[in-house]
Amino acid sequence: MTDALIKIENLYQLFGPTPKKYMGLVHEGKSKDEILAETGHTLGLKDINLSINKGEIFVIMGLSGSGKSTLIRHFNRLIDPTEGVIKVEGTDVMKLPPKELEQFRRHKMSMVFQRFGLLPHKSVLDNVAYGLQIQGVKKAEALDSAKKWLETVGLAGYEEQYPSQLSGGQQQRVGLARALCTDAEILLMDEAFSALDPLIRSEMQDQLIELQKTLHKTIIFITHDLDEALRLGDRIAILKDGEIVQQGEPEEILLNPATEYVEAFVRDVNRARALTVETVMKDPAYRITAETIKEALEQMRGFKQDYGYVINNDGYQGIVKEDTLQEAYDDDSKADLTNELIEQVDALEQDAVLESVIPTTLEAEFALPVVDTDGNMTGRLSRGTLSDVLGVRH
Ligand SMILES: Nc1ncnc2c1ncn2[C@@H]1O[C@H](COP(=O)(O)OP(=O)(O)OP(=O)(O)O)[C@@H](O)[C@H]1O
Ligand SMILES: [Mg+2]
Repeated sequence: MTDALIKIENLYQLFGPTPKKYMGLVHEGKSKDEILAETGHTLGLKDINLSINKGEIFVIMGLSGSGKSTLIRHFNRLIDPTEGVIKVEGTDVMKLPPKELEQFRRHKMSMVFQRFGLLPHKSVLDNVAYGLQIQGVKKAEALDSAKKWLETVGLAGYEEQYPSQLSGGQQQRVGLARALCTDAEILLMDEAFSALDPLIRSEMQDQLIELQKTLHKTIIFITHDLDEALRLGDRIAILKDGEIVQQGEPEEILLNPATEYVEAFVRDVNRARALTVETVMKDPAYRITAETIKEALEQMRGFKQDYGYVINNDGYQGIVKEDTLQEAYDDDSKADLTNELIEQVDALEQDAVLESVIPTTLEAEFALPVVDTDGNMTGRLSRGTLSDVLGVRH
């Protein structure tokens, strides 16, 4: 975790007229409900610690009322914490004087809202250019840039329309174009796709993933939908009643849910679709790198299985069995390990989703080798591992 762009430390948010007065109760560990009953104050966030890296999509997930919007509003200081530190590039945002805070809000971050947040009396083009104009960019330049971004999100030709003339999905694209137009390094997206119907939502997710490949922004994405979180997130933090119950990479959360609450969430996820081979494979053991049959047999004697993966300078070549080697050795003890002895078993690609490799893996006589895009063996996937991960009895 070297490249932290945003750091949140021990952040608390207690809503009510005199929050400071009751922070003692929070630190004593009283629950949200107890605090509300005793003081009339709502505990919005409790001891949040996050470190968000430059260039990642960090998803904050939780049910309604868990504190997602409250948390994201601290990032650009739309609200101030009751306690805690918010650092962006090492700068304590709480200590920024008003002028600098305004600059920071305008230039560092931009936000995409759940309900689009477009100005109804401005054209689509003006809506997109607006963010740039308040940054002080000249009108002509702002309009040029706005046009370009509208094209990028697939809305060329709609420049002169008004928001009410567009569908929900199109309006959300305008919102996205407006946020991207400002060149802000950090994009805050609060349930940005939640109002869209499933098909358009999935298209928008694809578009965001595609855009991110060239933009490399730091994106904080809020959702209450685990599938969306898994699809978009490089890392995910799960909020419950204002507390983070788990944070980690999607596969970590899927494979090792930290609490029963998270477990209940992940139970219904289609793991075969959410996980790639790389996330579940075993280490790339049982490699045969020998050039002669004699050496290959010696390597194989140390194995716990009676076959190995032949590897040379060009990467993975195929599988060789011990009895084949033994026969060849009995025939000629000085011969080289040649291609005829090697079975051409196709390797799995490490980036493949599990779903796509289920039949091959289940039918294979061997644990299949896994390779990277250069053909280097990076792991093994057996029938047993696959069944365990997918929760199938075998
Ligand atoms: N200004 C406020 N004053 C008092 N309580 C608030 C305020 N804003 C939020 N809360 C409370 O903080 C908690 C978290 O609210 P928040 O809006 O952050 O939830 P959320 O996770 O974004 O929910 P949703 O998915 O419905 O948008 C709730 O209990 C809410 O009632
Ligand atoms: Mg919200």
